[in-house]
Amino acid sequence: MGHKEIHDRSLADPESFWAEAAEAIEWQRTWDSVLEIGSAPFHRWFAGGMLNTCHNALDRHVEAGRGDQTALIHDSPVTETIQRFTYRELRDQVAALAGVLRAHGVEKGDRVIVYMPMVPAAPMAMLACARIGAIHSVVFGGFSAGELAKRIDDARPKMILSASCGIEPGRVVEYKPLLDRAIELAEHKPDATLILARPQAEASLVEDRDFDWDTEMERAVPADCVPVEATHPLYILYTSGTTGRPKGIVRDNGGHAVALAWSMSNIYDIKPGEVFWAASDVGWVVGHSYIVYAPLLIGATTVLFEGKPVGTPDAGTFWRVIEQHGICTLFTAPTAFRAIGKEDPRGEFIGKYDLSGLRALFLAGERCDPSTLEWAQRQLNVPVIDHWWQTETGWPVAANCLGIEQLPIKPGSPTCAVPGYDVRVLDDEGHELPDGEIGAIVIKLPLPPGCLVTLWEADQRCRDAYLRRFPGFYLTGDAGIRDADGYLWIMSRIDDVINVAGHRLSTGEMEEALAAHPHVAECAVFGVRDPLKGELPLGLVVLKSGAGVDEEQLRAELIRQVREAIGPVAAFKLVAVVSRLPKTRSGKILRGTMKKIADGREWTPPATIDDPIILDEIEQALVKMGYPSS
Ligand code: COA
Ligand code: AMP
Repeated sequence: MGHKEIHDRSLADPESFWAEAAEAIEWQRTWDSVLEIGSAPFHRWFAGGMLNTCHNALDRHVEAGRGDQTALIHDSPVTETIQRFTYRELRDQVAALAGVLRAHGVEKGDRVIVYMPMVPAAPMAMLACARIGAIHSVVFGGFSAGELAKRIDDARPKMILSASCGIEPGRVVEYKPLLDRAIELAEHKPDATLILARPQAEASLVEDRDFDWDTEMERAVPADCVPVEATHPLYILYTSGTTGRPKGIVRDNGGHAVALAWSMSNIYDIKPGEVFWAASDVGWVVGHSYIVYAPLLIGATTVLFEGKPVGTPDAGTFWRVIEQHGICTLFTAPTAFRAIGKEDPRGEFIGKYDLSGLRALFLAGERCDPSTLEWAQRQLNVPVIDHWWQTETGWPVAANCLGIEQLPIKPGSPTCAVPGYDVRVLDDEGHELPDGEIGAIVIKLPLPPGCLVTLWEADQRCRDAYLRRFPGFYLTGDAGIRDADGYLWIMSRIDDVINVAGHRLSTGEMEEALAAHPHVAECAVFGVRDPLKGELPLGLVVLKSGAGVDEEQLRAELIRQVREAIGPVAAFKLVAVVSRLPKTRSGKILRGTMKKIADGREWTPPATIDDPIILDEIEQALVKMGYPSS
């Protein structure tokens, strides 16, 4: 059957479609109903079923004879080490770590925050939680203590797992002081922390609260897998929304395991025993789904890469990893390829390695410009697949499903809706738009298995954020087009989310950080086009009183303030002082118009603008900052 037939079948009879897919998973108890329709979005997949995700990712492969196969390769150019774990070794370490959690009182349903760099202990921590039914919440290492504190207060973890440091090119990022500060800032206090000591930095431990990872592991009593309900939460992953309050996306166990296992063979075309590499970070959804869970759920080998596409040590690192570990398929963000292409435009490093085992490159996380896709295609000579999804969905919504049938590639489009997803394009009134017209991209409910089940302890916020706008549909937050061939074209966000180097960030949150400065009366942050990172945040501030303010010093303070509030990952470095911000007569700041000016796109002052003259000043300020860039 081709893509269209399978897609049609998945929508016509989702229950039989997903029941068949669920056979790839080992269940302790079969479900009572494949899909239980509740009040949206709280439809439940595989209700009544019992399983354990860690058992499916590790133990059952050992029992089936894969014990000696490599499960995880840690390739770390920043520490110049490579470490391999077989399925048996990984299971044993995860069982021991689950025992440590249990010894500290962590039980089914308790939350555990994982704030770790890209070391094997990070996926082990996630799997150890899954093993005992605890709910992990991984926080990306590039976030500040303040961001971590917000997540501590929202998830209220019993324990936090961390490390003495992460390693960024040219600097060691000490995690322990950040963790200590976050615990100090948070109202909720964890009972205990477990700290992995890395040789690059020492961590001072607080007695009776902080425990040393290796010491605890030595005395651990391994814990067995605890079967949990299919609908039991596996994890919470916080993502950026419109405000400074991150959204805690909740994923269940059953639907997640079924959808991810299905995606590995049908989208990525990976078989058990093959080597799959998602060059991302465990702190993002790509890391959750395609570094940790999906490859292990099907018995493949996964790669955990602690480095960057360039500079660790050079633009040939990706090709070295592909050759050395026999990678079949690579998944990364377009930014990584733009970074490589910038340093090695003629692909000279590529010629130095044997990439004959590579079958495909998948790109996601941000819009993929056709020139990057075409460059990658020319250099690698394999299909380059742009695919579109988001933290909320947990797995691809639109893709060229290589395991089903390769459809023609149209650069700039992530191809068609994946089986399971009924994607529509709506106008402002909720009417479906004809092919070729731009509108809000939505997914008709029910969402397939594996997508968010709610926001952590915030059902109403979930309804408000995703379901209220168009009843019966999930709002993706992206605007775009469907063409006559059913291909989707993702054009822009309809909210305040921007995408910086494949990292999803909230401009609203940056505005909150700027507004906290005593000199700032009001401010606006929007994303401007950047040839490397796709977008960069740019802030304009209006001062309470300009008198006596040293603007250069103020700019440095504002940049530091955003970095401290959100973290280095915000990449906030562009800020200028203006006398006023352009607004509509009702007081809404015209961020979209300012963005158009900065990006060098055609623009006209909106009819509702209060005072068009102000746009001249904005244009001048942007030109001074180098925008629009040539
Ligand atoms: N811990 C601490 N700091 C981190 C961090 C982490 N895990 N990850 C990033 N940072 C810091 C960086 O050191 C940098 O700090 P600086 O301002 O002091 O230089 C800042 O956050 C911005 O990081 P980044 O956006 O990654 O920029 P970069 O200049 O270091 O690297 C690329 C540029 C293109 C090489 C890099 O962004 C990249 O590899 N992108 C691929 C995208 C990706 O994997 N996305 C995941 C979704 S699929
Ligand atoms: P995240 O939740 O961090 O994965 O970010 C999801 C958002 O990134 C999406 O809603 C899109 O705005 C954007 N995005 C991800 N993949 C793509 C893609 N292939 N094309 C265009 N935008 C994308």
